[in-house]
Amino acid sequence: MRLDSFQPMIRYALIILGIVILTGIVIAQFMSNYFVLFLVLLTEYIILMMMLHYVYDKYVKPIKKATSTLDELVKGNFSARMHHPVTGSMADLLMKINKLARSLSELSLNEKIQAEQLTTVIENIQSGLVLIDERGYIHLVNKNFLSIFGGTEQDYIGYLYYDILDNEKIHKMIQQTFLYEENIKDSIVIENDTRQYFEIIGAPIFDNRNLLKGAVLVLYDITEMKKLETMRKDFVANVSHELKTPITSIRGFSETLLDDDLNDKETAKHFLSIINEESKRLQALIADLLTLSKLEKDDSRLELSEIQMKKIVDEVIPVLKQKAIHHGVRLTIDMDQDISFYADRNGIKQILINLLGNSIDYTPRDGEVILLAEQQNDSIRLMVRDTGIGIPQEALPRIFERFYRVDKARSRNTGGTGLGLAIVKHIVELHKGKIEIQSTVNVGTTINIYLPLIKKTLSNH
Ligand SMILES: Nc1ncnc2c1ncn2[C@@H]1O[C@H](COP(=O)(O)OP(=O)(O)OP(=O)(O)O)[C@@H](O)[C@H]1O
Ligand SMILES: [Mg+2]
Repeated sequence: MRLDSFQPMIRYALIILGIVILTGIVIAQFMSNYFVLFLVLLTEYIILMMMLHYVYDKYVKPIKKATSTLDELVKGNFSARMHHPVTGSMADLLMKINKLARSLSELSLNEKIQAEQLTTVIENIQSGLVLIDERGYIHLVNKNFLSIFGGTEQDYIGYLYYDILDNEKIHKMIQQTFLYEENIKDSIVIENDTRQYFEIIGAPIFDNRNLLKGAVLVLYDITEMKKLETMRKDFVANVSHELKTPITSIRGFSETLLDDDLNDKETAKHFLSIINEESKRLQALIADLLTLSKLEKDDSRLELSEIQMKKIVDEVIPVLKQKAIHHGVRLTIDMDQDISFYADRNGIKQILINLLGNSIDYTPRDGEVILLAEQQNDSIRLMVRDTGIGIPQEALPRIFERFYRVDKARSRNTGGTGLGLAIVKHIVELHKGKIEIQSTVNVGTTINIYLPLIKKTLSNH
C-alpha cells in the first residue's frame, strides 16, 4: 500500500469512525441507553488503537530504524543495513538506504585498497621520503627515511622540519623548494656507522588551484655510485703511477747513455739491461690492462670449447717449471687424468699461469707449490697451494682488487703489476664460478677455484 493512498484511507476511516460515534451518541440519546454508548466508545477505542499500531509498525518504526542506520553510516560504519518487513514506499526507502550503504562500503573499501597500495609503495621505495606541509610540519616519513636518520615515526610527524632535522643542507633545500616552487637537486653526506652519500630531490606540491601545499623530499642512496667513481679515479691514478716509474727510469738511463760517450761498455750494457727490464714491465702492464679491459667489456664473450685439462697443463707447465727451478721451489701436479670440460681455453691457461706464477714468486727457496685438479659432482675444482710467505688476514678482502699488492716493494721486484689476481677473479666470474682464498703468514696460501660444468652452449656473460 502506498503512502499517498494510505492518507485518504485514514481520512475515510476517521470520517467513518466519527459517523459511527455520532450515530452511537444519537442512538444512545434517543434510547437513553448508555450501554450502547459504552459499546460504541469501546469499539472506537479498539479501532483507534489498531490503527495507531498499524501506523506505528508500518511507518514510525521503519523511520526510526532508517534514522539509526543512517546514524551508523554517518559514523563510518558502512556495514550497517536495514532489515524491516515493509511494503510500498517504505520498502523503496529501505532498499535505497541499503543500496547507499553498499555503495559507501564499496567506496571505502576501494579507498582503503588504494591507500594500502600507496603506503606499500612509499614504504618499500628504495629512497628515503619525507612529506612537509606549507607551514613546515612533517606529515609523513617512510621506512627508508627512518633508517637513514634514525628514530621512529612519532619522532618526526607533527614536528617542524627545522626543529627535528639537524642538517643545514636539507633545511636550505626545503627553503629553496618553497621559495622557487620548483624541483631542487643536491647531494649530501651522512655519517652514521659508515659514510653514506645521498642525492636529494625536493619537489613542491600544489593543490588544484595551483597553490603551494607543501614539499616532498626524496633521498636516493648513491654511495655505490660514488664508490665506483672513486674506484675509476683510483684506477686512472694507479695506471698513471705504474706507467710513470718504468718510463722515468727508461728516460733517465737512455738520456745518460746519450750524454755519455760509450767507452764504458760495461756501464752502457748495465743501463741497457735496465731499460730492457723496464720496457718488459711496461709491456706486461699494458698486456694485463688490455686483458682486464677485454674481460670487463659488457659484451665480453667466453669462447667455450672442450678442454682436456691434461693438455692445458702440459702447455703451461714447462715455463712455470723453469721458473720454479730458478726460484728453488718444488712444483707438483696432482690431477685426475681424464678431466675434460667446456671453458674458455685462454682463460683457464691465464688462471693457471697467474696463480702458479704467484705461488712460485711468493714462496721462498725449498718451498713447495701444488696444483690439484679434480672433477666434483657438478664442478671442476682447481686448487693451487704453496708453502710461501702467506697473506695477512687484513689484506685478504682486498687481494682481488686491481693494483693491490701486500708488499709493494717486494712484488715490484718480482715484476708484478698487482693485476694478476684481478684478472683471475674476472675469468672465474665470467665462467660463473667461485674463488676462495685461505692464507696464513709464513705458512702458505691456498686458492680454490670451482668452475661449473658447462654444457656445450656458448654463453654470454
Ligand atoms: N701465493 C701468494 N702468496 C703470498 N702473497 C701472494 C700470493 N699471491 C698473491 N699474493 C699477494 O697478492 C698481491 C696481488 O697479486 P697479483 O697476482 O694480483 O699481483 P702481482 O703478483 O703483484 O702482480 P701480477 O699482476 O704481475 O701478477 C701480490 O702483490 C702479493 O702481495
Ligand atoms: Mg701475480
